[in-house]
Amino acid sequence: MTRAGSPETWLITGGAGFIGSNFVLAARERGAARVVNLDLLTYAGNLKNLAALADDPDHLFVRGDIADRELVGRLLQEHQPRAVVHFAAESHVDRSIYGPQAFLETNVMGTFHLLEAVRRYWDGLPPPRQQDFRFLHISTDEVYGSLAPEDPAFAETTPYAPNSPYAASKAASDHLVRACRHTYGLPTLITNCSNNHGPFQFPEKLIPLMILNALKGKPLPIYGDGLNVRDWLYVTDHCEALRLVLAQGRVGETYNIGGNCEKTNLEVVGTLCAILDELFPDSPHRPHARLITFIKDRPGHDRRYAIDAGKISRELGWQPRESFESGLSKTVRWYVDHPEWVASVESGEYREWLELHYGRG
Ligand SMILES: NC(=O)c1ccc[n+]([C@@H]2O[C@H](COP(=O)([O-])OP(=O)(O)OC[C@H]3O[C@@H](n4cnc5c(N)ncnc54)[C@H](O)[C@@H]3O)[C@@H](O)[C@H]2O)c1
Repeated sequence: MTRAGSPETWLITGGAGFIGSNFVLAARERGAARVVNLDLLTYAGNLKNLAALADDPDHLFVRGDIADRELVGRLLQEHQPRAVVHFAAESHVDRSIYGPQAFLETNVMGTFHLLEAVRRYWDGLPPPRQQDFRFLHISTDEVYGSLAPEDPAFAETTPYAPNSPYAASKAASDHLVRACRHTYGLPTLITNCSNNHGPFQFPEKLIPLMILNALKGKPLPIYGDGLNVRDWLYVTDHCEALRLVLAQGRVGETYNIGGNCEKTNLEVVGTLCAILDELFPDSPHRPHARLITFIKDRPGHDRRYAIDAGKISRELGWQPRESFESGLSKTVRWYVDHPEWVASVESGEYREWLELHYGRG
């Protein structure tokens, strides 16, 4: 709550994307804050994710670019947020391999411009509000590079070694946030999280892609030998960790967030096939695992990521609520139960709606 007793305001960037929309929906459901949601609505942003908030007077959606300092400055002055929660990014590793420039523009320069606008706003706040202010930067475990099978999991002290253009751009943005803390004193927090899954994830990413292909009996393409290992976390567990970091995290610190749940890609796809087999005993595509096919590996594909989430657990008492299996069952069910969302994304209908309302982006 703010000093006046009314809910505080958060400026959230990228709140129409996968994790951002889950975070915004949960924040509003809990009445945790008024939300000003700044999102450019790239292909990954989808206002349908926020349909439940259509009549919510405490959710203000603004279509705009984090790199637009004037717009961000205006929003900050007008809404006087207590926190900025920064999700907006280009987020797909494969896209970064074939078109890295957008990743540098958004993740590096976009974050830089956002920080400049936030710094100006923060400089002008009275000291108690300066102390209260937080800039929470959402990042990824990919900044730490790749692990060998016996290596210990990534800790907050693991040196950065990004291997893809996506990871490099996120690493650069983390460094800019860190520098802003050390140079100017901005009260920042950084989180580095492992792979998320759950509702509203754009179906270019592994888990929704596999669910939707399997439901249609299409091949399930797995890179290389399928033995690349990732740590997986259900998105609402990530959002809960972020709320905790925002409320109680030590200023200037980084917190790693993960599900303590290392799985090979083959295990992930095998488990979701088994869930589908159970859900659809009469499906002609059963056993769905028959649909698995191996394709040429992604260039520079990191072999293994693993997160040591001990710090956030010790300091803030966070633990994931979902196991891999319980979270994955929820994710599969969500895609099965939301065919209209899936159809609008697959057909591009959500883009047409966007163009109608906002013109071509
Ligand atoms: N998805 C994961 O598994 C994962 C894991 C760890 C960290 N992260 C990080 O979490 C954040 C959110 O990831 P996600 O999977 O929800 O991404 P996403 O691609 O689903 O969403 C990104 C959102 O940012 C918006 N956006 C892009 N460029 C913008 C700009 N210039 N100005 C304003 N908005 C812009 C898009 O329209 C979209 O709504 C990212 O910073 C990502 O690096 C993601």
